[in-house]
Amino acid sequence: MSKRPFYITTPIYYPSDNLHIGHAYCTTLADSIARYKRLAGYDVLFVTGSDEHGQKIQRKAAEKGMTPLAYVDGIVANFQKLWRQLGVSNDDFIRTSEARHHEVVQHIFQQIYEQGDIYKSEYAGLYCTPCETFWLERQLVDGKCPDCGRPVETVKEESYFFRMSKYEARWLQYIEEHPDFIQPASRRNEMINFVKQGLEDLCVSRTTFDWGIKVPFDQKHVVYVWFDALVNYLTAAGYLDNKEKFNHYWPADIHLVGKEIVRFHSIIWPIMLMAMGIEIPKMVYGHGWLIVEGDKMSKSKGNVIDPTLLIEEFGADAIRYFLLKEIALGADGNFSRDALITRINADLANDLGNLLHRTVSMINRFNGGVIKKGGPSEPVDLELSALAGKTVAAYEAGMEKLEINAVLKDVWALISRANKYIDETGPWALAKDPAKKERLDTVLYHLAETLRIVAILVSPFIPHTAPKVLAQLGLAADQPLALNEAKIWGVLPEGTTVVSKAEAIFPRIEVVTEAAEAAKPEKKEKTAKAEAAAPVEKAAPAEEEAPAVSIDEFARMDLRVAKVLAAEKVEKTEKLLKLTVDLGTEQRTIVSGIALHYAPEELVGRNVVMIVNLKPAKIRGIESRGMVLAASSPDGKLTLVAAPDMAPGSRVK
Ligand code: ME8
Ligand code: MG
Repeated sequence: MSKRPFYITTPIYYPSDNLHIGHAYCTTLADSIARYKRLAGYDVLFVTGSDEHGQKIQRKAAEKGMTPLAYVDGIVANFQKLWRQLGVSNDDFIRTSEARHHEVVQHIFQQIYEQGDIYKSEYAGLYCTPCETFWLERQLVDGKCPDCGRPVETVKEESYFFRMSKYEARWLQYIEEHPDFIQPASRRNEMINFVKQGLEDLCVSRTTFDWGIKVPFDQKHVVYVWFDALVNYLTAAGYLDNKEKFNHYWPADIHLVGKEIVRFHSIIWPIMLMAMGIEIPKMVYGHGWLIVEGDKMSKSKGNVIDPTLLIEEFGADAIRYFLLKEIALGADGNFSRDALITRINADLANDLGNLLHRTVSMINRFNGGVIKKGGPSEPVDLELSALAGKTVAAYEAGMEKLEINAVLKDVWALISRANKYIDETGPWALAKDPAKKERLDTVLYHLAETLRIVAILVSPFIPHTAPKVLAQLGLAADQPLALNEAKIWGVLPEGTTVVSKAEAIFPRIEVVTEAAEAAKPEKKEKTAKAEAAAPVEKAAPAEEEAPAVSIDEFARMDLRVAKVLAAEKVEKTEKLLKLTVDLGTEQRTIVSGIALHYAPEELVGRNVVMIVNLKPAKIRGIESRGMVLAASSPDGKLTLVAAPDMAPGSRVK
């Protein structure tokens, strides 16, 4: 074990119910960080699991007429199935019902008791069962749990207490000396304020139910479920059963948790470790919450999103990519189907999917499938290879700061640059001239090499896709990928043979064109269907030329420059934008099927070209008078025709 260790954990989730998209978000984040660290050469221990004890689970099992263990066995099997489907690469899955964990919890409880930091008394106070949290009267908000807003229960029972109050000053000093321990900084300040109000001793055992780990010296009591759960991080690292492993991986590098449980991880947990004389983990990172169409997910609202269904419909990598790209770590983020489909079509099917498809198709068509290195580089080639180098450097720096969505932006800028490079170098034109064969080889090499680097960089985030990209390029991944291999330009060997038939790596979600939409205005419910992306055989349009028209016929089209004054999405549609445009003499409303290609705010203030005498059509109840013109490529890419400096109303002829 000579490689540098890296230990990352997710919360161990409650198996009171199946998991939802919020849990999948946290686990995807942790998995991406773990995969990145492996790529960067670390020896990673990545652990997730299930928090199986406590009153909530015992009640839930009773409702179902099952024993707690039989009940959680079923749900935990679903957790594990979900993580396999999502491509989660955890090295261990810890269940708190396992014997290895019971031993560690009892050992720690005993030791803290023997040294006098756990004592017996009586607890009389309030308890939130859904959160498994003790509260003081003054901490309630409107008499309810300040975390979840649900009613609390009054409990009165003999309990053991953990002398947290004794550690208040030490905790404050530790936080001051380790400013990076609680992240983001907003959460740190919150925790400091909480502790400065005074730390109470914590009730750490219960007697009114029995689904838990027995207090070793007093069998009437079970250990408080949070005390039990936090210890999982020690159990999984081999605290009692594998000293060598424990010394290698401990202290944990990152406990990634949701913001609502930062308090347990950054106050109770380090104080338990201080009491034990065990080193404190390096970082607790509190990520934000995923809300759904602007609303908190809850069973009563019926808006809980099942990640399994999404994976079945769109594929694991599409879901992973969306979660990582759309939400800045630490901030809350919104999940919406529309936004998911937009990301899949724009970033995965269009940008990455097409770059690969175009590249492999051209290598097949122009070079019989064989990659050649070509000749000297021209400035446009050097620009691409230099950007690849810069992207890898920014990627490494960004990942060290956990700025995953910024890193993805950088990688996609490289992908876009490579797509533009195809248009700039025009390989299909080079292919027509035998004298330009070497130049053609150079261009195709640059594309394939960029894709090789991109595949390495995206592998932590979309782990099912990266090997597919490499396989299409003829690069079988016979050993684990390494970040170092992305740092060097020109690794792709001459003579590599790409697959003979390029396949679309991401299904495009059907895009209904404006005309098709207008033709069937009565159609109410449209379900997005995933279908294989239209194959892109070449970049040049292959459409047949339309029959000839006279100049008079053309003149009947009244084409004009218009300025977009306002733009908004048409509700419940994926592709439609409602535009208000200025035509110089009047304002008009038009509905345009460009929402997957342009965000509303990108359009405001911009000039477009439109046909103004198109027969009005009612689209989704909106009268649309005119149509904006856009260039479209066979692969579904769409760019608005521009006339930036013309006054609104100018004729286009
Ligand atoms: O708290 N958005 O388990 P839990 C983002 N067993 N993340 C979310 C989320 C949402 N809407 N909902 C849940 C527990 N999560 C304890 C943990 S650890 C020693 C014990 C994620 O099943 C988020 O990471 O309630 C949150 O902290 C965790 O699931 C809570 O899962
Ligand atoms: Mg919770």
